[in-house]
Amino acid sequence: MSAPAPSVHALETVDPSLDLMAEISRLRVERKAVILAHYYQDPELQDLADFVGDSLRLSQAAARTDAEVIAFCGVHFMAETAKILNPGKRVVLPDLDAGCSLADRCPADAFAAWLKGYPDHVVVSYINCSAGVKALSDIICTSSNAERVVQSIPAGRKIVFAPDRHLGSWVMARTGRDMVLWPGFCIVHEQFTARRVAQLKAAHPVAQLIVHPECDASVSQMADYVGSTDGLLQYVGTSPAKAFIIGTEAGVLHQMHKLRPEAELIPIPVDSGCNCSLCPYMKLNTLEKLYLALRDLRPEIELDEAVRLKALGPVRRMLELG
Ligand code: 13P
Ligand code: SF4
Repeated sequence: MSAPAPSVHALETVDPSLDLMAEISRLRVERKAVILAHYYQDPELQDLADFVGDSLRLSQAAARTDAEVIAFCGVHFMAETAKILNPGKRVVLPDLDAGCSLADRCPADAFAAWLKGYPDHVVVSYINCSAGVKALSDIICTSSNAERVVQSIPAGRKIVFAPDRHLGSWVMARTGRDMVLWPGFCIVHEQFTARRVAQLKAAHPVAQLIVHPECDASVSQMADYVGSTDGLLQYVGTSPAKAFIIGTEAGVLHQMHKLRPEAELIPIPVDSGCNCSLCPYMKLNTLEKLYLALRDLRPEIELDEAVRLKALGPVRRMLELG
């Protein structure tokens, strides 16, 4: 897995004597800013955020905020979605290189050319895509509402689903709808293998296996529960089980530990033995970069207004479905 290159902003040094927590608290008030964080962010960023959530909840929070600045501790497509919904607000991302393998490997021009082969299809796109791809879509979904979004499409209509082939396959299995899939994948979830999971299940026979739908079908078919990061958290919070094998980015364990401090939480290790269950893009954001983003109001998300307007409809359609 190749890690993203550090951004220019990331090279700026911050005075080590600064109390970053105090500075961020001061700037948050001065800038009338709200800090949103995804569950895959480092624990210190999750703990200081005004709101922590999955992709759907974060876009709902972005849609209702009255803050003047949105500091998005997440990845580029999430901050871009916040900007699609809030053209009049300044949206900053601590590290502009915090991308996503799904979004990066589905460029809008290639997607537009591919769609020409499916002119009579409804285009459903996972929120992990660029504003350009959203603008070419009929409706957006996240991992927590993908099933509902696809079920909302009248029976008999043909569907294309992009850019995650694993989420697409999982939705096809759940809904019985046939869909044409763009062949994208998440570099983190794709590395969990059925072989590794079988070994873990043998070593922890009473543990529940819970995985994200971005995992390969060979892994999700073995699971006791498949769901978005928020769904996985709710499952851990309400299940009577005392041990869980967790197939998603390991940042989510921070909130799981808070919910169930006594439970055994076992992240799935990847076969290569590296730290690949951590998303290298999500981990580009740091406390220092958040401080700089609030201080300088950059790196800022900027969007072509024509693209933003085209992307807004499909995002709104998703939010209306909930
Ligand atoms: P959710 O937060 O919607 O579960 O998505 C996980 C993810 O990979 C975000 O990039
Ligand atoms: Fe993208 Fe995967 Fe990272 Fe989520 S975990 S931001 S899907 S690369």
